Amino acid sequence: MRQQLKDFIEAIGKDAIAIIPAAHEVTRSYDTEFKFHQDPDFFYLTGFPEPDAIAVIAPSNKKAPLTLFVRPRDPLMETWYGRREGVEGAMKNHGAHKAFPIENFEKEMAKLVNGHEKLYYRFGVDTKLDQVVLQYLSGQRFRRLKTAYPPHTIVDPTILIHEMRLHKTEEEVELMQKSADIAAEAHVLAMQSAKPGINESQIEAIIEHHFRMNGAAGVSYNSIVGGGANATILHYVENNAELKDGDLLLVDAGAHYKGYASDITRTFPVNGRFTKAQREVYDIVLDVEIACLEATKIGNTIQQRQDLSIELLTEGMKKLGLLKGDTKELIKKKAYMKYYMHGVGHYLGLDVHDAGRYFTDAQAKNSRPFEAGMILTVEPGLYIPPDDKDAPAKYRGIGIRIEDDVLVTEDGNVNLTAKCPKQAEEIEEIMNSAQAQSAKG
Ligand code: GLY
Ligand code: MN
Ligand code: MN
Repeated sequence: MRQQLKDFIEAIGKDAIAIIPAAHEVTRSYDTEFKFHQDPDFFYLTGFPEPDAIAVIAPSNKKAPLTLFVRPRDPLMETWYGRREGVEGAMKNHGAHKAFPIENFEKEMAKLVNGHEKLYYRFGVDTKLDQVVLQYLSGQRFRRLKTAYPPHTIVDPTILIHEMRLHKTEEEVELMQKSADIAAEAHVLAMQSAKPGINESQIEAIIEHHFRMNGAAGVSYNSIVGGGANATILHYVENNAELKDGDLLLVDAGAHYKGYASDITRTFPVNGRFTKAQREVYDIVLDVEIACLEATKIGNTIQQRQDLSIELLTEGMKKLGLLKGDTKELIKKKAYMKYYMHGVGHYLGLDVHDAGRYFTDAQAKNSRPFEAGMILTVEPGLYIPPDDKDAPAKYRGIGIRIEDDVLVTEDGNVNLTAKCPKQAEEIEEIMNSAQAQSAKG
């Protein structure tokens, strides 16, 4: 049995049963679908890759706790839309102890669920399944309770599963490292390929080609490839402008490898040489990134790291002449928000903005301390709008973000994306040797 499933079974206990649905395909237009993406909670517990499945997890059934309801084998459907594991495959290849065609779920539900005190189910995600569960619960109200009782407590399993997802196992860290390695290599390729005249879209293609050629299923979020002032748009995804001599290029791209995300940002000069003004901004962001990466460790809270990024970037903004005044006052007034308006990082895992709570209390008053097994990004940035009359002209339209993925351990941290160069000189060296090579060839 998968470790994740074992841990979940132990956590909910034998008085409980859980119903965890898979994702469904999503229509892109008319009769075509988006590429299927499995629900990460379902994937985490079962590893089952197909849409329209439901897992029923019953710890009371010690020998056979996992029942999967799946799309049945169907030669006609499979000829049109692809292979299915079916009931046999779910048991043989995916660890289900029992399996049924998905059509039987309603019929089997009462048999499986009755006799448990608690039902772990999350309402509000799969509205069709919500109706089935509600109908079952309401149907039970009319029963004379002389046989196995229905559950009287409904619990949302999300927090439990998300806390588990937040603390990565060794095996997960290995997959995350691989995802990070593929992304780091792709960013180096982007540096080697950038030059004036090439389109953002071509850089995006080079990166995503590398992901797919190295075992990743694709991207873990839509890649951001923004030249010049496009880098000042945080979620710029048009990626269709021509790169210009003298501009910077911001690339924020991560791979989706065996379910796990990486998330790297690098910013570099299209022509391979930072201008003096670009370098001034770059080095400020880089110093903040390194300091915040260092601060990603046990003993600090997530908020302390955020505050550090704000303080250092506010100092940096003063140095550049973007802000004037007392640092404490500027922070109090949130003056930095004009040029740095996002968090310094987030959890990373099956989702790019991964599961897990950021506070230790439901009121979100106490920031959570870093804990071993967490993986977070660190991604400070400075974005100077092109039309910002308050900024010195030489800095207008510069957008810089630098982002790495960091594992917290008992004794410090590990930068999973350390292979991706970020010192300005290193980047220039990589770009200039690539350009010299292509001039020769
Ligand atoms: N690209 C999404 C993020 O960096 O959070
Ligand atoms: Mn990113
Ligand atoms: Mn990120």
